[in-house]
Amino acid sequence: MKNKKMAVRIMTDTGMMICLLLLMPYSLLSETAHEWIGIAMLILFVVHHILNRKWLASIAKGKYTVFRWIQTVLVIIMLVLMAGSMISGILLSDHIFQMIKINGTYMTARQIHMFCAYWGLMVMSLHLGIHWNMVVAMTGRLFKKASAIRTWIVRSIAAVAAGYGIYAFGKRQIVDYLFLKMHFVFYDYEEGVFPFLIDYLTVMILLAFIGYFGGKVLRKKSLRLSHNG
Ligand code: HEM
Ligand code: HEM
Repeated sequence: MKNKKMAVRIMTDTGMMICLLLLMPYSLLSETAHEWIGIAMLILFVVHHILNRKWLASIAKGKYTVFRWIQTVLVIIMLVLMAGSMISGILLSDHIFQMIKINGTYMTARQIHMFCAYWGLMVMSLHLGIHWNMVVAMTGRLFKKASAIRTWIVRSIAAVAAGYGIYAFGKRQIVDYLFLKMHFVFYDYEEGVFPFLIDYLTVMILLAFIGYFGGKVLRKKSLRLSHNG
């Protein structure tokens, strides 16, 4: 039963990561697919919150360490960004929600959609990194034995991917999209979707890497502060 629950958690989290990655190439993948994947992301997001309802229910209880503050602020930011992506996406929709349109909102909805998509990519990847130890613990329990070789293989792949992610971050001009210096995402239709996905995946791994190590430092600091105080 416990293993079943864990499998559902892992599937939901992996599903959200895959959806997020597949949403970034928009028309490079397919416009209609983009809207359906957006809806799938919304459903998984609701399931994610049902699975984490204990955390949400205890938000007003207990002491707040620096780590807990940062974790909670990230969750609030993600909530706003997800709402922004979904509402603007529905207003922009040319397929599934074609009938929902408000005159004169196209440009604003576009800018909100792009801003929320790119900041969402950053913050959700950081959030995944902060919880990576939980993912490792859950996945480990699905295997019969712990394996040092498995751990080091995964760590080495992640380190190489994160290193490449620094290059991909610059190459894809992600800072320009984050600060709306560009109003349209540049899609190279000749290059195809795979190089785009590889670059964005490594950017996600880079951010998760930062979240993982940042989270480790913050947890230690919070522990020290609570011992001293
Ligand atoms: C790509 C998207 C996301 C991924 C991969 C992800 C991953 C994770 C993981 C691995 C955990 C640990 C527990 C579990 O496995 O369920 C977690 C917990 C949590 N996530 Fe997410 N998440 C994502 C999006 C979001 C969003 C958008 C929000 C909020 C708006 C959110 C809020 C939470 C909360 C409140 C917890 C519980 C915190 C805790 O137990 O410490 N997540 N998430
Ligand atoms: C977390 C969820 C989502 C993310 C990360 C996301 C991401 C993106 C990105 C990166 C673009 C390209 C922007 C550009 O070319 O300037 C885009 C465009 C678009 N998205 Fe989404 N999206 C999400 C959800 C949705 C949903 C739910 C819908 C509709 C049901 C939707 C509909 C659209 C439409 C219609 C466009 C084209 C806008 C235009 O240029 O006219 N998106 N999205």
